[in-house]
Amino acid sequence: MDDISYTQPPATLARILKRTSELGFELASEDRTGALLRTLAASKPGGRFLELGTGTGVATAWLLDGMDATSQLVSVDVDATLQESAREALGHDARLTLISEDAAAFLKRQPAAGYDFVFADAMRGKYENLDDALRIVRAGGFYIIDDMLPQSNWPDGHGPRVLALLETLATRPDFAMVPMAWASGLVLAVRKPS
Ligand SMILES: C[S@@+](CC[C@H](N)C(=O)[O-])C[C@H]1O[C@@H](n2cnc3c(N)ncnc32)[C@H](O)[C@@H]1O
Repeated sequence: MDDISYTQPPATLARILKRTSELGFELASEDRTGALLRTLAASKPGGRFLELGTGTGVATAWLLDGMDATSQLVSVDVDATLQESAREALGHDARLTLISEDAAAFLKRQPAAGYDFVFADAMRGKYENLDDALRIVRAGGFYIIDDMLPQSNWPDGHGPRVLALLETLATRPDFAMVPMAWASGLVLAVRKPS
């Protein structure tokens, strides 16, 4: 067995990857991450999903592929040019709402425990505004992050921030978490029932 041979990508992905390449966008999620997101998405029928950092729509496509017909996904990005790629390829899907906004401002407006699944793929909601992002995860809901293993595009001084984030998530009494040194390095955290 290997990590990817048995994974069929979403039909929408090829178009998004072509646009991603044209735009020179190098921060898109990899297939293994997408496959995990899709698998976990399938565990939340009727779920409310949030992606922070749409990029060109790569993880958005994988999430939609795992969600059932009654689930809803909101995806937020400040970069309207990148997000336009997601709109072109996925905008026909009535389950998806694309919002062009700063993730921190968006998070401040969200009610507590409003989401079953948060994929936090921007600095805000992860290294900044972490409490705002965790606050909106309901009991049994997922908070997922990637890019936790060293990446060539990490800014100077990012490594200690990664370790600090891992420590914070590992010691929160209201979440159970598992770090996975796999793909770009993921953390899956679940809000415990209170
Ligand atoms: C790692 S990329 C997202 C990749 C995407 N989720 C995927 O699966 O391919 C991070 C994204 O965060 C966006 N971003 C940066 N600052 C932001 C902010 N303050 N609010 C919302 N999005 C932001 C960037 O424009 C970029 O598209």
